[in-house]
Amino acid sequence: MKLDDVINTPGFAADPFPIYRRLQDEDPVQWSEKWNCWVVTRYDDVRTCLQDAKRFSNVGRITGLFHRLFSADQLAQLQPLIDHYAHGLINIDPPGHTRIRRLLHEVFRPSTIGRYRDMVQDFVAEVLAVALPTGKLTVVRDLAHPLPVHVIARLFGVPVVDVQLFAAWSAGIVRFMQSPNPGFELCMQSQQSLLELRAYLQKGIVARRAAPRDDLLSLIVHARSAGDALTEDEILGTAVTILLGGHETTTRLLTTTLLELSRHPDQQARLRAEPGLMENAVEEFLRFAGPFHRDQRVAAVDTTVGGKSVRRGDFILMLLAAANRDPRQFPEPDKFDLARDPNRHVAFGFGPHICLGAPLARLEMQIAVNSILAATRTFRTADQPIDWEFGFLRGPQELCLELTGIKP
Ligand code: HEM
Repeated sequence: MKLDDVINTPGFAADPFPIYRRLQDEDPVQWSEKWNCWVVTRYDDVRTCLQDAKRFSNVGRITGLFHRLFSADQLAQLQPLIDHYAHGLINIDPPGHTRIRRLLHEVFRPSTIGRYRDMVQDFVAEVLAVALPTGKLTVVRDLAHPLPVHVIARLFGVPVVDVQLFAAWSAGIVRFMQSPNPGFELCMQSQQSLLELRAYLQKGIVARRAAPRDDLLSLIVHARSAGDALTEDEILGTAVTILLGGHETTTRLLTTTLLELSRHPDQQARLRAEPGLMENAVEEFLRFAGPFHRDQRVAAVDTTVGGKSVRRGDFILMLLAAANRDPRQFPEPDKFDLARDPNRHVAFGFGPHICLGAPLARLEMQIAVNSILAATRTFRTADQPIDWEFGFLRGPQELCLELTGIKP
């Protein structure tokens, strides 16, 4: 089967998994003309590409797109966006990448992140205090979108009044990434959001250099390892990556998880009866409902993937969500089983670039789902069709939940 024949069909966005399975079985490393890249779907191949930075590079994974799509004049106008994506954690390989990760090690330790537990708990409690009396929760608008923005803004020590600015910049920047062939205007708009965010963060960095505060931005600014420190540009690049990486992903994971718990009342009931299952359950949310569908690398050498010859400079798209449903790795992969063990999913990636914010994402998920379960006897989706947003991330645009048996 040809992926290009189904890529833009509504059915693909609503349920891409049968297509992923056919690709895995029939042509697991397939060239897509529409996306202009190799599409890799099997678990083992995806892990190999994620792990082997010498053959599959992060350099040029985003800037290469601009060079492919735009004229010299357009590229000149997009120079700030190109410069941003030429540097920083997610756009470089070891050993430069290893150096930055080493410096950020302390910042994202689970013990550091655990300090934010109460803040997450309080935020979810406030949302539920408004939603519970109505018996309805408009998930994206009231919880899944504002929660991670609020958390990250607070991690960065941003005043509550500025939180909406963060939300708008973050949505503005990722817009161009949601399409494999974004137009010039869209990229210019993303660039504008990026420049505004960088200017805002720059002021915060100057302030924290002068006087550190009890926030994550201070930890990044003052991170030291063996006499080494991040440059101003690296701090900015990292801060932007954290904002983008930590926001849109968590929004979609939480929304899709609540949808799946509604679609699987037996699993919802099981989690209510066995709250100790929550840590395990979050791993299954990530495997089954993980939002990060398309991750990208560039072939650094002529090589092979899954037996196919790949040329140096070719783009390689790894379908993480397909790998997470590969029957070669997961028994009964389409079964939503909160007790699944082992569960070595790749929803957070794998190898050198594995998600830095995973402890925070897990914490937010545990608290949000647990709080909703604790406050209700059951919840289910209101009887409405779901519009799926499906770019490199996938998730419902909105989800309305009916909450019943509200507990006092
Ligand atoms: C459900 C939530 C999340 C998902 C599914 C997710 C997924 C991922 C994936 C797949 C990668 C690897 C990308 C690659 O190898 O190309 C990644 C990297 C990253 N994530 Fe997350 N992420 C989530 C939440 C977060 C949060 C909450 C933060 C920070 C607050 C964060 C920060 C980062 C950073 C900084 C990187 C880059 C790491 C590197 O390049 O070394 N993520 N994430």
